[in-house]
Amino acid sequence: MTAGEPLPPDIADAIEEARPRLAPLGAPLLFFSTIGSTNDRAASIATEGAVVVADAQTAGRGRRGRTWFSPPGSGLYVSTVLAPARARVDPRRATTLLTLAAGVAVAEGIQAGTGLEVDLKWPNDVYASGRKLAGILAEAVRDVVVLGYGINLTASAFPPDLRDRATSLEGQAGKAPDRGRVLVETLAALASRYGDLLAGRFDAILDAWRVRAPAAVGARVTWTAGSNVQSGLTAGVGDDGALLVRTERGIERVVGGEVQWT
Ligand code: BTN
Repeated sequence: MTAGEPLPPDIADAIEEARPRLAPLGAPLLFFSTIGSTNDRAASIATEGAVVVADAQTAGRGRRGRTWFSPPGSGLYVSTVLAPARARVDPRRATTLLTLAAGVAVAEGIQAGTGLEVDLKWPNDVYASGRKLAGILAEAVRDVVVLGYGINLTASAFPPDLRDRATSLEGQAGKAPDRGRVLVETLAALASRYGDLLAGRFDAILDAWRVRAPAAVGARVTWTAGSNVQSGLTAGVGDDGALLVRTERGIERVVGGEVQWT
């Protein structure tokens, strides 16, 4: 197993400038021009703070077993190893809220790195102008969580069949994004929100998530619970991160599965 390749200059320069803001993330920080999945490589390290970055993935995965199209030169593919179970306050809740915290951090990092304001859709899909810009995949590996995110930098990051549902930083800003800057700002935001989780500052995470998720209230959604397709109007998120949905039977809590925004 290789220890990674030399960092490309744009990433090396950005990391050097931002290093003090990244702790505890980035030790080690490995770069690969092509890899199967950054989540798999991070899982093989499984020590808190490890970061794996790739320019392309041959087996990138999305949620619910989907493929995450990851061609070279068009996206940012990043995985980090986090240990929310070592939170000083309520480690179980910290672990549950990690997915929301990750969405907040990626949104904050994109804004800091590009100036673009983005929205979140439960639990942590990142949208711009109503189209998906970035996705996050959290996978438990023994006592840690591998948290991977993919950000579309250019339109070639998404396959033709997703063209009308996806967007890229270049498409939104009209110019090529600074990849190194987007990487370090998302990692710095993740380090900061991870600090909130470990210290039990759960309300800060929930408040930041709510501000960035307008569709969490009053949007029509459908989801599958067992073999039933259910629908209703979103009514916010609970303190445990569950999506609340008002249906004819009352408020339902959605904790997993696929939610369709209609
Ligand atoms: C989703 O929206 O379905 C989640 C997509 C997560 C993609 C990222 S890219 C980096 C990391 N490695 C993977 O194989 N998947 C995640």
